[in-house]
Amino acid sequence: MSSHGPACPMTAHRSDGLRGVADVPGDKSISHRALILGALSVGETVVTGLLEGQDVLDTATAMRAFGADVTRGEDGVWRVHGVGVGGFAEPGGVIDCGNSGTGVRLIMGAMATCPIVATFTGDASLNKRPMARVTDPLALFGARAVGRSGGRLPMTIVGAVEPVPVRYEVPVPSAQVKSAVLLAGLNAPGETVVIEHEATRDHTERMLAGFGARIVTEETPEGRVITLTGQPELRPERIEVPRDPSSAAFPVCAALIVPGSDVLVPNIGLNPTRAGLFYTLQEMGADLVFENLREEGGEPVADLRARYSPDMTGIAVPPGRAASMIDEYPVLSVVAAFAQGPTEMRGVKELRVKESDRIAAMADGLRAAGVTVEDGPDWWIVHGLGGDVPGGATVATRLDHRIAMSFLVMGLASARPMTVDDGGPIATSFPVFGPLMAGLGARIDG
Ligand code: S3P
Repeated sequence: MSSHGPACPMTAHRSDGLRGVADVPGDKSISHRALILGALSVGETVVTGLLEGQDVLDTATAMRAFGADVTRGEDGVWRVHGVGVGGFAEPGGVIDCGNSGTGVRLIMGAMATCPIVATFTGDASLNKRPMARVTDPLALFGARAVGRSGGRLPMTIVGAVEPVPVRYEVPVPSAQVKSAVLLAGLNAPGETVVIEHEATRDHTERMLAGFGARIVTEETPEGRVITLTGQPELRPERIEVPRDPSSAAFPVCAALIVPGSDVLVPNIGLNPTRAGLFYTLQEMGADLVFENLREEGGEPVADLRARYSPDMTGIAVPPGRAASMIDEYPVLSVVAAFAQGPTEMRGVKELRVKESDRIAAMADGLRAAGVTVEDGPDWWIVHGLGGDVPGGATVATRLDHRIAMSFLVMGLASARPMTVDDGGPIATSFPVFGPLMAGLGARIDG
């Protein structure tokens, strides 16, 4: 969906201790992949716990446009009848991926080795984001892309009629790029090889293996080498989507900074490619405990228990950890404002090309709320005030859900309220954010 209607301002007020259980929704990354791989398999894939955020709903609509049958039962279970690898039909209209970089980039990959043409667009945020990072490797398979200048959407991809497999070194740490190449490789004969120098989230690799593809990952001195054998018949799967650690980050961080809080966030996946924020918070001295640590579906899972942590101190976040917490820097910077001393975040250039320029968006809002921030092209430093954050600002969320939620978390603990000019984008990833936070005792209106 290209727009979400009129702007919806929201204000967060200083709250008493947050308490209770926060059942966050399904993982966004895994939800997109479940629908896309379901659409590429033969037979019925059944998905429970799918995130019903707008980004994922847009991917469901796109899969229908490419010929898959995607339905939601009254019990909330989703069923996908796929068309098989290489079986995508040519869509009759433009594919609108709304706000979702993951949606558009993965779908471009999946269709690029089919003999069809598709045109993609998105909202004002997505139409500014770089697509050459995906269309460059897709060209190696034989696909062609024509978009706006600078490689922006709207863009038409002419799929390769006789695709060839590729060997591609991903030049930026991006799971979206890696996944687009792997999905394109599905319909190329022979072996497609992707090399990444920094490990990014590996949900596509895990799920491809689950659907029966032959895919091997090796850790080598040149990096992670992923080899996919093309043209498999993917068999349908039953997928239980785990809960989203990136959504869990918001109630967890709110509990750490609101005095008197004690919040349990159950069933959160601690896949090492996703869990960097939680280790960072622990290093800052957060009272954050992994309870009931266990394995589910081959992944570490825990119930996160977060309590008010008045004695946190800033740290230098290791740059090598960036990929495993890339979506969590905005809310980390809010916690950093309440900690003692500086928190340094380096090696984070990718933050500048997310749903918004997240360094600029957070730095502007933090400064307006009385926090000192320094920033450069690929780094920023937040100077923590040790608890006394003035707040009292209205912040532009720039069509970015995580900017909106981060400043609302801040307003629960700052001296004066924090307002975001538009909370509408929250529905892209965490549609129940408002009621869930209210259930813990958060005072958020709008
Ligand atoms: C995602 C990968 C990340 C992340 C995004 C989801 C994915 O983007 O920021 O929210 O599901 O593959 P990049 O691959 O561009 O780093």
